[in-house]
Amino acid sequence: MKICCIGAGYVGGPTMAMIAKQCPDIDVHVVDINAQRIAAWNSEELPVYEPGLDEVVREARGRNLRFSTDVDGAIAAADMIFISVNTPTKTFGMGAGRAANLEYVEKCARQIARVSTGHKIVVEKSTLPVRTAEAVKRILSSNEHQATFDVLSNPEFLAEGTAIRDLLHPDRVLIGGESSAAIEALVDIYARWVPRERILTTNLWSSELSKLTANAFLAQRVSSINSISALCEATEADVDEVARAIGTDSRIGPKFLKASVGFGGSCFQKDILNLVYLCEYFGLHEVAEYWEQVIKMNDYQKRRFARRIVTTMFNTVSDKKIAIWGWAFKKDTNDTRESAAIYVCRDLLEERARLHIYDPRVSKDQIIRDLQQVMLTQDGELPPKKAELIDNNVVVEPDCYAAAEQAHAIAVLTEWDVFKQLDFRRVYHSMQQPSFVFDGRNILDHAALREIGFEVYAIGKGG
Ligand code: NAD
Ligand code: UDX
Repeated sequence: MKICCIGAGYVGGPTMAMIAKQCPDIDVHVVDINAQRIAAWNSEELPVYEPGLDEVVREARGRNLRFSTDVDGAIAAADMIFISVNTPTKTFGMGAGRAANLEYVEKCARQIARVSTGHKIVVEKSTLPVRTAEAVKRILSSNEHQATFDVLSNPEFLAEGTAIRDLLHPDRVLIGGESSAAIEALVDIYARWVPRERILTTNLWSSELSKLTANAFLAQRVSSINSISALCEATEADVDEVARAIGTDSRIGPKFLKASVGFGGSCFQKDILNLVYLCEYFGLHEVAEYWEQVIKMNDYQKRRFARRIVTTMFNTVSDKKIAIWGWAFKKDTNDTRESAAIYVCRDLLEERARLHIYDPRVSKDQIIRDLQQVMLTQDGELPPKKAELIDNNVVVEPDCYAAAEQAHAIAVLTEWDVFKQLDFRRVYHSMQQPSFVFDGRNILDHAALREIGFEVYAIGKGG
């Protein structure tokens, strides 16, 4: 059995490494057009930071796991081809800002059609709008070599930062398809380590739609608790106490009730926007509006946090140094896509704050790229004034202490564990007075900080 995976990103890399680890007899070839990324997968410094990933890759790489840019060769040799390319929100034309950009998926389908002979199973691993498989099937069937294909949908539910655990012990694996032989072939792979009762099979469309729906429900919980956090701040209720009180109701459950500065990541916003677009497309305007509110609440939460920093600091942060702790969209990842930090920092920069940023896993280049990106005009240009603002007002620091030195405030934007283990007396004495802490993740010991002398603002904490 030979597997090929097109797309060596946050999903393709870890999922294929896990399959290769669990199935030493299966040859797994991961390919990408991005030569730099492939070189990193073949090096000691993997392009994806994910706890436990190094060990899994080290075990399988060179045995039955390969990374290369030979897309044609890998497709031609494979019995089963996973498509795991990016499906970002469209930025142009029809559906801009909402619909998924399926350009990369379609290019993969065309390449598979061009290169394949015999029979192959094509697996959609990317998150796709419901009914994409129809288009994929049509493109595949128009090949010139009489090749035949089965198309399966096998969406990925891993979360970044816990990808290895999620892949090893998934709540479920979902496989949608029409041919029972093809479904069985993929079930047999996962069944090497996932109990069969956790491998769900459905029709193609249910599988595609379930992925969008799962992310919409998860994001909705975060927006729901974040909406309540605003009310908590107005009423002296404590959002963490409210979350515990409602989460112990077994019908609600405790997960995804952590109030925060807003959800980020490459999936939630993109997938909900995609769902909204699909609902509009099918004329379901009320349904579209319902889900869109999850995004609006998240935008509000990010804006509200930045505004709170400004109003608390006597209505001006201009020329004030603010330490930004955390840039990744959550802990234990180097991924910054849609991170709340980007939007909060954009708003603070617009107020002329001086930002000193530290993240344990995100490079300076990435931070600057993210800020430049978020300040682009609609035509995709970076106005000289914004470029200047980034050049003059942003410093990327080597650690939390350096970032906080002589700062007026600290804003915690990612919940990295290391932020909890600092010498806060040292931090306090190095800062300007009054010293503010804005805990956008509610991870610090607020009582202890107040004892030292900090003025603390946290999400959903009144008083
Ligand atoms: P990514 O951007 O990290 O990786 C995608 C890779 O595909 C890139 O390296 C890109 O160069 C490559 N690529 C694009 N077109 C190509 C082509 N024609 N040939 C070869 N390579 C090509 O994206 P990701 O985060 O891995 O996400 C991939 C898909 O999985 C998306 O649809 C996403 O919604 C979904 N997903 C992501 C997550 C997550 O946590 N990141 C979780 C579940 C599902
Ligand atoms: C998500 C889904 O969880 C995963 O199943 C899917 O495959 C991809 O999208 P991911 O985006 O990697 O995974 O991380 P997740 O843990 O879901 O967190 C998303 C965002 O929500 C992060 O910014 C996180 O900080 C935030 N969040 C999450 C909260 O603010 N509060 C919570 O209670 C949970």
